[in-house]
Amino acid sequence: MGAVAIDCTLGQAGHARQIMERITPGGRLLGIDRDPAAVQAGREALAAFGPAAVVVHGRFSELGAIAMEHGFSPADLILFDFGLSSGQVDSPERGFSFRAEGPLDMRMDPTSRLTAAHIVNDFDASEIERILRQYGEERWAHRIAEFIVARRPLRTTRDLVQAVEAAIPRRAWPRDIHVATRTFQGLRIAVNDELDEIENAIRAALLTLKPGGRMATISFHSLEDRLVKSFFNVESKDCICPPQQPVCTCGHRAALRIVTRHPVRPSEAEVAANPRARSARLRVAEKL
Ligand SMILES: C[S@@+](CC[C@H](N)C(=O)[O-])C[C@H]1O[C@@H](n2cnc3c(N)ncnc32)[C@H](O)[C@@H]1O
Repeated sequence: MGAVAIDCTLGQAGHARQIMERITPGGRLLGIDRDPAAVQAGREALAAFGPAAVVVHGRFSELGAIAMEHGFSPADLILFDFGLSSGQVDSPERGFSFRAEGPLDMRMDPTSRLTAAHIVNDFDASEIERILRQYGEERWAHRIAEFIVARRPLRTTRDLVQAVEAAIPRRAWPRDIHVATRTFQGLRIAVNDELDEIENAIRAALLTLKPGGRMATISFHSLEDRLVKSFFNVESKDCICPPQQPVCTCGHRAALRIVTRHPVRPSEAEVAANPRARSARLRVAEKL
């Protein structure tokens, strides 16, 4: 029997195609994406593999139900490549880019309700501040939130960039990233509920894997990576009682083995060929 693989972040199917080339004939792949444009692109990219590749529109937090419904549970391999695809970042009309003017949208799934415009124009300043601080790790969150509220209504990504530029004193602008990077990251994570999605999905992935099956995650910032790292750490331990407790009372049993003790980083050559890979971190775990 060939391998059963699930790519939970199909995107433009770059990884999915590579997996298919290694597991066919005999293997099957389920591709999931919440972005209908990616679903369309993924279907076209995998058409040559016929019924061995199944592509589904959905959120990866629903992985358990989707895999079951399409006959992909239990699976040998589950892949997550978090974040945005190049297709999303490079389409100004999606509103993800601070480099091009577009609507304040930022929804990965345009059928979902919450947009960045709704957050910046309708949420309280304190809630905007929380989003920028917690999800953008932006230390100027308070001032940026005040400037956003004072400039309402904000219509485009340029309006938002200008609010951020005005809020942060020029001498404090970061040198290595765009001044609005953290604000855009914070809003994008809130719009798409990205961290809850990840927490629920990696839990579902563990349940969906067969013993000996592996899950691989590629993270692009510390908030994503931290969730995976702590999940792997907890689930690879037999006991999670506080260290000062002399006798175990938790009854917890290890459910996985960490394959990558340290995350795998891209080589210099890979970063030179694909600069967007520079912050990627790969972690792999095997179900016991
Ligand atoms: C970095 S891209 C993946 C690129 C892909 N590995 C490739 O080779 O083309 C991430 C993709 O995951 C999708 N995505 C992000 N969060 C998701 C979620 N919660 N559920 C399903 N898809 C999600 C995005 O829409 C995007 O297409």
